[in-house]
Amino acid sequence: MSKIMEWIDARLPVTELIKSQATEYPTPKNLNYWWNFGSLALMVLIIMIATGLFLAMHYKPDALLAFNSVEHIMRDVNYGWLLRYMHANGATFFFVAVYIHILRGMYYGSYRAPREILWWIGIVIFFMLMGTAFMGYVLPWGQMSYWGAAVITNLMSAIPVVGEDLVVWIWGGFAVADPTLNRFFVLHFLLPLLVVGVVVVHLWALHAVHSNNPVGIDLHEGKDTLPFHPYFTIKDLYGMGVFLIVYCYFVFFAPNAFIEADNYIPADPMQTPAHIVPEWYFLPFYAILRAIDFLGAYSKLAGVVAMVLSIAILFILPFLDRSPVRSFRYRPLSKQLFWIFVVNAFVLGWVGYNPPDASLFHGAVPLILIGRVSTAIYFSYFVLLWLITALDIEKPRPVPKSL
Ligand code: HEM
Repeated sequence: MSKIMEWIDARLPVTELIKSQATEYPTPKNLNYWWNFGSLALMVLIIMIATGLFLAMHYKPDALLAFNSVEHIMRDVNYGWLLRYMHANGATFFFVAVYIHILRGMYYGSYRAPREILWWIGIVIFFMLMGTAFMGYVLPWGQMSYWGAAVITNLMSAIPVVGEDLVVWIWGGFAVADPTLNRFFVLHFLLPLLVVGVVVVHLWALHAVHSNNPVGIDLHEGKDTLPFHPYFTIKDLYGMGVFLIVYCYFVFFAPNAFIEADNYIPADPMQTPAHIVPEWYFLPFYAILRAIDFLGAYSKLAGVVAMVLSIAILFILPFLDRSPVRSFRYRPLSKQLFWIFVVNAFVLGWVGYNPPDASLFHGAVPLILIGRVSTAIYFSYFVLLWLITALDIEKPRPVPKSL
C-alpha cells in the first residue's frame, strides 16, 4: 500500500495535502460546540445533493405532471417517501445549521479581520441557498408552491423601468406556468453544485487564515492548537450523531411538520389560498418586506430593498464593528445587543407567519406595527454596534493573552 502511495505522492502530493489540511491541520484547542455547525452544514449539503439526485430521476418538471410525479415518488418508488422526506426536511435542517453557523460568527466576531473574505463568501453561499430553497419549493407544484412563486417573482416588478419586463422574462411567459417550473427545476439542480464549488473556496479561505475561537485572540501554533485529527474529527462526528438523531426524528415521525398542508393541493392559478406563507426560514425577511410594503406609494420597492438589505448589510459588518476585541464574550454591550437581535429575529418570524391584518388584544395592537418596530430593531443592531464601538462607548473586559 505504501509503495502505491509513494508512487502517487511523487506525482500528486495527496498525503501531504491530507496531512496539512486535515489530519495535522492546527485547530484552536478551545473550540466549543458552536464550531460544529460548519461541518453539519456540509453534511446536510451532501445529504441534499445525494437525495436530490435520486428524486430527479423520478420527478417530472412539467406543470401537468409535476404534482403527480411527487405522489408517484411517495407511493410507488422504492423508498421514494424516504428520499422525499429526507430532502424536504433536509432543507429545514440546512437552514437551522446555517443560521446557527452565522450567529456563531456574529457572536465570536469571526467576521473580523483577517476573516472578512471568508465571511463574504459565506454570505454569497447564503444567498445561493435561499435561491435554491425557493426554487425547490416550487417543484411539487402544489398551491403554496405556485402562489409562493407568484408572490416572490412579482416582487421584481417593483424595480423601476425594467421590473415588469424582468418578471415576464423570469416567468418565460405572462404568468407562473410550465416554462417557469422547467427553468426553476434546471436552476434548482444546478445551484447546489455551484454551492459546492463556493464551499470549497470558503474552506480555502478558512484554511488560509485559520479558525477563530471563543476567546477571539490570535493563536500561537503548537501552544494553543491541537491537530484536527483525532480531536476534532471525533467532536464533529459526535455533533453529526446528535444532529442526525433530531433530523431522523422529523424524517420518520413528523415528516410534514414543516410542510404547509396547502401544498398537498395541486396548483390552481384560478384560486388564491386564503393565507400565503413562505417556509419558516424566510419568515423574518418576509416580515421585513411586509412591514415596509404597506406604507404607501413606492412602498413595494422600498419593501424589496429593505428585505435584500437585511441580508446584504452583513457584508459591511466587518467594517461596522470597530471594537479592539473580537469575541462578544468580553464585550458586555455587544453581547446584549446580540441577544436582542436574536429574540427580535424570532418576533419577526412570528409576525411573518401571521396574516398581515392580524392583531393582538382584540385589534388594539396591529401585527403590522409590531413588524415595523421589529424591523427597526433589526437594523438598529448594526447601527448601534457601530456607534458603541466607533465612539468607544463599550468598555471590553480584559481578554486572556493565550488559551
Ligand atoms: C453551505 C453552507 C456552509 C458550509 C457548508 C460552511 C462550512 C464551513 C465550515 C466546515 C467551517 C469550519 C467549521 C466552523 O467554523 O464551523 C466554516 C467556517 C466559517 N464559516 Fe461557513 N459554511 C457555510 C455557510 C456560511 C455562511 C452562510 C456564513 C456567513 C454568512 C459562513 C461564515 C463562516 C465563517 C466566518 C467561518 C469561520 C468561523 C471561525 O473560524 O470562527 N459560512 N464554514
